[in-house]
Amino acid sequence: MRTAQVWHENWINKDNFSRALPPATNFPARLSRGSRRKTPDGRSPGSTNQPGHLMARASAYKGDLVNHATSVPTSARILGIGGALPERIVDNHYFEKIVDTSDEWIRERSGIIERRFAAEGQLNSDLSADAGRKALADAGLQPEDIDLIILATCTPDRPIPSCAVVVQDKLGAKNAAAFDLNAACSGFIYGMITATAMIRSMQAKYILLIGTELLTRVTDMTDRATCVLFGDGSGAVVLGPSYDSRGILGHYMGADGSLRDLITIPCGGTELPPTPERLAEHLHYVHMRGNETYKHAVTRLADSCVRALAAANLHSDDIDLVIPHQANTRILQSVAKRLGISYDEKFFINLPHIGNTSAASIPIAINEARETKRLLPGMTMLLVAFGGGLTFGGAVVRY
Ligand SMILES: CC(C)(COP(=O)(O)OP(=O)(O)OC[C@H]1O[C@@H](n2cnc3c(N)ncnc32)[C@H](O)[C@@H]1OP(=O)(O)O)[C@@H](O)C(=O)NCCC(=O)NCCS
Repeated sequence: MRTAQVWHENWINKDNFSRALPPATNFPARLSRGSRRKTPDGRSPGSTNQPGHLMARASAYKGDLVNHATSVPTSARILGIGGALPERIVDNHYFEKIVDTSDEWIRERSGIIERRFAAEGQLNSDLSADAGRKALADAGLQPEDIDLIILATCTPDRPIPSCAVVVQDKLGAKNAAAFDLNAACSGFIYGMITATAMIRSMQAKYILLIGTELLTRVTDMTDRATCVLFGDGSGAVVLGPSYDSRGILGHYMGADGSLRDLITIPCGGTELPPTPERLAEHLHYVHMRGNETYKHAVTRLADSCVRALAAANLHSDDIDLVIPHQANTRILQSVAKRLGISYDEKFFINLPHIGNTSAASIPIAINEARETKRLLPGMTMLLVAFGGGLTFGGAVVRY
C-alpha cells in the first residue's frame, strides 16, 4: 500500500501537476474492512442508507431490501458485455483514392489499418440497441430489469430527443430512465463513474451503459488529417451492484475546457446554426488540431492512469490489462513507457482494425478482450480515455 502511494506521489510531483491527488476512494476495501463506525441500527453514518431514501429507491430494488444494513453495494460491477460493429470494412487504400494519403502514412502515424463504416440508413441507435441487447443477454437480464440507460456519444441520431430514449424504445426497456452523455472520447469512462455513483447510492440497480458513435457521418471525407482516423461502432456493459471485491475500485475524471477548440464540430449547435455557407465550409464536420492534441493526449492519459490507480490504492504492477481509448498507437506506446507498464503484454490494442471510435472504443475493446480471452474473470483492468473537451479520465475495474 505504502509503495503504491509513494509511486503515485512521485509520479505526480515529477510531472508538476498542480492539482493534488484525490483522496483514496477504494470503496470495497474501505467498506469491507468493517472499520467504519456504525449507528445502532447497523447503518454507516453519513451514508444514504436511510429509510426515506430507501422508499424513494424502492422501485429500483423492488423486493430486495430485506437487510438494509448489508444491501448497500460496495461498488458497481460489470455483469454483462456486448458489442456491435457495422459489417462494412474500409481499409486504408480506400482513402488513397479520395485524398492525398497513403496506406504507409496512416499505418505509421496512427497505427490504423482498417475501420468500420455504418451502412446507409443504419443509425447510431440501431448499433447501440444491438450492443445493448447482447450485454443484457450476457448479464442474464431482461430489458425491463434496467433502471437507467446511459448512452455515451457525441454522434446521436438527432440533437433532440436523446439517442438514449430511442435505444430505450428499441430495447423495450420500459422501466428505464435514459439520457445521453457527451464527453467525446472519454464518454464511456464518465458514464461508468456516473453509473457507479447511481448504483452505490441505490438510485438504480441495473444500468445499461453504452459507448457508441457514428463518426463517419460527421467526418469530412475531403480532409485527410481526420477522415483516415475515425470509424463506427458500439459497445455496452450492464452494471449492477457489487458486494465483493469485483467492480470499479477507483476512478478519476477531469476536463480542460480552455482547449475546447482542439477537437470540435463548430457548426450545428446553437452557437453556429447550420446555414448553406457554413455547410459549404464543412463546419458541420469534426475539426481536429492533431499534433497539439497528441501532446496533451500523452500527458493526460498517463496522469489519469496514475490518479485512478491512486484512488484504488493500487500500483501499476497490480493491473492485468490496460484498455485505453484507441486513438493512436504511438500515443499509447508513450503512455505505457511513462507508466512503466509493458505495452506488448498489458495494453489491449484493437485500433488497427477498428480505428478511432471515440466513446465506443473502450467498450468495443472490452468486448473483444473478453471474446479473445485476454480479459478473464477476476482480472483487474485499467480503463483510460482522453478526448474532445478536453476531457479525460480513468477507472480501475475488477471484472
Ligand atoms: C492525427 C495524427 C495521426 C497526425 O499525425 P502527426 O504525426 O501529428 O501529423 P501532423 O498533424 O503533424 O502532420 C504532419 C504532416 O502530415 C500531413 N498529413 C496529415 N494527414 C495526412 C494523411 N492522412 N496522409 C498524409 N499526410 C498527412 C500534414 O498535412 C502534415 O504535412 P506538412 O508537414 O506538410 O504540413 C496525430 O496527430 C494524432 O493521432 N493526434 C491525436 C489524435 C487524438 O488523440 N485525438 C483525441 C482523441 S479523438
